[in-house]
Amino acid sequence: MLTELKTITLLGAGGKMGMRISDNLQKSQYQVFYCETAPQGQQRVNDAGREVTDADTSIAISDVVILAVPDIILQKISSVIVPKMKPGAILLTLDPAASYANLIAQRADILYAVAHPCHPSVFLERYTKAEYDDAFGGVAAVQSIVAAFEQGTAEQRSALENIVRQMYAPVDDVHWITVKQLAYLEPTLVETVTCMVGTLMKEALDETVKSCGVPEAAAKAIMYGHIQIALAVAFRSTNPFSDACMIAIEYGKEKIIKPDWKTIFDEKELDLVLARMLKINAVRR
Ligand SMILES: NC(=O)c1ccc[n+]([C@@H]2O[C@H](COP(=O)([O-])OP(=O)(O)OC[C@H]3O[C@@H](n4cnc5c(N)ncnc54)[C@H](O)[C@@H]3O)[C@@H](O)[C@H]2O)c1
Repeated sequence: MLTELKTITLLGAGGKMGMRISDNLQKSQYQVFYCETAPQGQQRVNDAGREVTDADTSIAISDVVILAVPDIILQKISSVIVPKMKPGAILLTLDPAASYANLIAQRADILYAVAHPCHPSVFLERYTKAEYDDAFGGVAAVQSIVAAFEQGTAEQRSALENIVRQMYAPVDDVHWITVKQLAYLEPTLVETVTCMVGTLMKEALDETVKSCGVPEAAAKAIMYGHIQIALAVAFRSTNPFSDACMIAIEYGKEKIIKPDWKTIFDEKELDLVLARMLKINAVRR
């Protein structure tokens, strides 16, 4: 088994995550091979001063193969890539969906990991413009990473953590959990709930302007301030919501949220949403 990880193949190097990760790995001590099949993606790789490599050649000599390709093609791509990997190498994916659904091609002599960025916290203390501008993370604002590596030894995990820290730098914590726990974080916690609530807030803002005739600037001003204070009160108990606000919150829950909404945390529901996202009939068990 490999403990020193030196050589990396990145598939999907010209995609959204591929470009971000490449920008950071390019500054690292690792030997990185950038693989990309789409002409536009290849152009992006070249424009960034990187060379596109033939995947067949680099995969066979890489300690780590990163699949930065869309989740819905991971089953097909992994079935081609995994047989070409060297024994002891690590296959790293960037989202838990396909791993949780057991779609990734398996081999007993390679190891599997997932590492997903948390994005910089809304509570992060930012000092520079670059930190403020870095909403996604991976450029200037510190973020944490959630990751799973359920088979590896402590040494291998530590070596892999170094790569993960470089990919998503700057990074403070890397939280090592299971693939299933990762799936409960994303999609359930952050996409099904948090991102959904974000889009609900935007729809409410648009409706306030469109149907109630409130000037957009006034609606945005009060909403953006209240997003900040609502999060500070709910998550940090900076001060309590007022009594009248609590009544309005309860009214909002009655009108908007289904009483049984927490069933989204049932395993059955997790399987359903993941199957829908991966465009398959059902996750494999
Ligand atoms: N986009 C995000 O915000 C985000 C955030 C966190 C994690 N992720 C995860 O990152 C992964 C990649 O997502 P993305 O949004 O960057 O996808 P993307 O569609 O932006 O990029 C995928 C790239 O892979 C390339 N590609 C496809 N097949 C290939 C092959 N056989 N060999 C080499 N390259 C190939 C495509 O041409 C494309 O450039 C997914 O697992 C996704 O869940 C994405």
